[in-house]
Amino acid sequence: MSPMSSSSTNNNSAAGSSVARYFDTMDYGPAPESDTDAREWLARHAEGFGHFIDGRFTPASGGVHFDTAEPATGQRLARVAQGCAKDVDAAVAAARAAQPGWHALGGHGRARHLYALARMVQRHARLLAVVEALDNGKPIRETRDLDVPLAARHFYHHAGWAQLQEREFADQVPLGVVGQIIPWNFPLLMLAWKIAPALALGNTVVLKPAELTPLSALLFAELAAQAGLPGGVLNVVTGDGATGAALVAHEGVDKIAFTGSTEVGRLIRAATAGTGKSLTLELGGKSPFIVFDDADIDAAVEGVVDAIWFNQGQVCCAGSRLLLQEGIADDFIARLKRRMQTLRVGLPLDKAIDMGSLIDPTQLERVRSLVAAGVREGATCYQAPGELPPGGSFFAPTLLTGVQPASTVATEEIFGPVMVTMTFRTPDEAVALANNTRYGLAASVWSETIGLALGIAPQLQAGVVWVNATNLFDAGVGFGGYRESGYGREGGREGCYEYLKPRAWAQRKPRSANVAAAVAANEAAAKTGNGSSPALPAIDRTAKLFIGGKQVRPDGELSRPVFAAGGERAGEVGVGNRKDIRNAVAAARAAASWSSATPHRRAQALYYLAENLSARAGEFAARIASLTGVGAQAAQAEVDASVGRLFAYGAWADKYEGAVHVPPLRGVALATVEAIGVVGVVCPDEAPLLSFVSLLAPLMAMGNRTVIVPGEKHALVATDFYQVLETSDLPAGVVNLVTGPAASLARTLAEHDDVDALWVFGAKELSHDAELLSVGNLKRTLVDHGLATDWHDPASAEGPAFLRHATQVKNIWIPYGE
Ligand code: NAI
Repeated sequence: MSPMSSSSTNNNSAAGSSVARYFDTMDYGPAPESDTDAREWLARHAEGFGHFIDGRFTPASGGVHFDTAEPATGQRLARVAQGCAKDVDAAVAAARAAQPGWHALGGHGRARHLYALARMVQRHARLLAVVEALDNGKPIRETRDLDVPLAARHFYHHAGWAQLQEREFADQVPLGVVGQIIPWNFPLLMLAWKIAPALALGNTVVLKPAELTPLSALLFAELAAQAGLPGGVLNVVTGDGATGAALVAHEGVDKIAFTGSTEVGRLIRAATAGTGKSLTLELGGKSPFIVFDDADIDAAVEGVVDAIWFNQGQVCCAGSRLLLQEGIADDFIARLKRRMQTLRVGLPLDKAIDMGSLIDPTQLERVRSLVAAGVREGATCYQAPGELPPGGSFFAPTLLTGVQPASTVATEEIFGPVMVTMTFRTPDEAVALANNTRYGLAASVWSETIGLALGIAPQLQAGVVWVNATNLFDAGVGFGGYRESGYGREGGREGCYEYLKPRAWAQRKPRSANVAAAVAANEAAAKTGNGSSPALPAIDRTAKLFIGGKQVRPDGELSRPVFAAGGERAGEVGVGNRKDIRNAVAAARAAASWSSATPHRRAQALYYLAENLSARAGEFAARIASLTGVGAQAAQAEVDASVGRLFAYGAWADKYEGAVHVPPLRGVALATVEAIGVVGVVCPDEAPLLSFVSLLAPLMAMGNRTVIVPGEKHALVATDFYQVLETSDLPAGVVNLVTGPAASLARTLAEHDDVDALWVFGAKELSHDAELLSVGNLKRTLVDHGLATDWHDPASAEGPAFLRHATQVKNIWIPYGE
């Protein structure tokens, strides 16, 4: 018997009460992590950091510096350089010079460097964790147990992709020089998410960390050089938004990868439009946390703590909308409030705290004012009791109840430790509430009924769904958003594709001048056709538009001639306008059942289309020959290739599938491929049937509904296709065709907020407009920048490259076990 138990036997009642009192009054003492090494490193750079360019610190060319502060105390931490265009130029030049050599190292060579970086992160884990906690204000417990280990895991995982690159991505090439801009909420982890895949696959990088948290990137770059990373492969330029903008604008950059606010994401989309730069955006969110009445309530309460108070709620995928099934709402809130009372807010280096400081006074003020707005709009505010440390930007864990779905706090990303709650009655209502946002980054679903949880997951508009869990991340599991949360994925195989392009696409050349001139001439003709010319004939035996499964007259009642190769009039097509596009989008939106149809069903439809086209092969070949002037054999070859392409996508429909990831936890993550939704397509003039089919079929195969603008010059080929569509048992609205001026119809599609993605092939200017005008709802775009695709070559015009653009990956995490 231990002394403790013997004394408690002897003095049962007295000791019992004093022990209970002791437990009641017991407080945590401080348990600080040492910051000695971090302070020494900072002291070595006390004069101020330069940029890290070409393997060494380089003084800022403008000589301008600024101070960064410790969020928890407000005290100055370091002096860093404000990068200007000249610095960006030097960094891009270094990256450009290093890229061929880095690529030439081969997959194994790069894998060894990435392994070395992973080990380096592990060796310096403590220093990195402390620097990160000091610079960001987040608890050391999180930097030590999450940010740093996950960063290391990212380098290990991507070392593996480098090793396998030549085999697994044999048909792909690296993009070149990548500009990466990251935010302040996970400075080191975002650095790892960005640079590991980029470097692994043979690109070189210019990284701009957030101005509020540049230190871990500078430390990483310094350590990476010591670990033998060749100069110029990773360059870090510090500075604010202007530095970021200079990087975005730089002509020597092949891709921009951005994580941050939706607002800046939009600016970057606009700035890169038409430049040919690839772009991935990981933006904000307002993620739902759905609790059904059969959930394990205590586990779900703990989940809420991780969802919204992890990293002070400054998490893009924070579960910030708590949706509770009505019957459990009161009990849940009562238990949640009890749990909130035990949360400790304190200094970041204290190992026993749950929450640290917000990033800076501006963010604190933003959070305060949003909470005040919520209260003004009728919410009730509950805050965890307990003293906040003096100084710094601390904000107590906060719960807003009685929130209306349309109120500011339910719709705006607060980016702070503030949870808002709403209730629902049925699963359908839960889905409707969850999707009632313009964002689509993540979601949590809590239910002990696996069938219910897995039935809800596919209905949620989100790139990540956690079942009975939240905020799980792994390098092997893609992360990224739907809708206005951005596009592109980080992690896993799908993340690798963001840093590669198909070899066949890299070899595309600009369309020949005469094709461009023909397009220009057509556009001019289209403008006349758009209503101003009194010479326009009234609609008569004109091919109509095809909307909602029916041939319909264009709203403007106008048509324009289509000429045969010999110059004679071959017929007329309708001139679609804004209203026609609106109708077509509405029809496509209504055809939602196509997206949930089984892949088998979609495959059948594509085979049937192929058969019906084949049955009319002669007719189509004659039409192509007469319109384009190619010989009979070539025309027949185009029809045959089109039939083949439909068959190919019929085959792909039930074979382009997801994956089952096995992240390091007890459970799996199902990477499912989902349709994007309503996709606008603008077809080029060349190979009028084959290009049309090559763009339509992958979208259809993956369950998208389309609004297609056929190539203008030979649009009669596409209008002939109506009959094929009509005889092929396709649900109305799956394919809609609007003929007319490509330029203005492309712009209308780009601006339409109910179009989820846009593919534009044709004149260069169309690509620019499509990308620029897509900023409204941040629709995904696939454009060719005026480069000609060889539509007959399957490597260029068929297969996974198109299927990837026709889908979005949703990762559904399913932990299991007791
Ligand atoms: P931000 O989007 O302005 O900053 C992110 C990064 O972009 C930083 O490196 C910044 O220097 C850079 N940047 C800013 N303007 C730029 C421009 N015009 N061109 C290129 N780069 C530019 O985010 P900020 O101001 O730090 O935070 C504002 C709000 O954004 C937060 O309150 C939060 O709501 C949200 N946010 C969301 C994040 C997310 O991961 N979803 C991350 C950070 C902030």
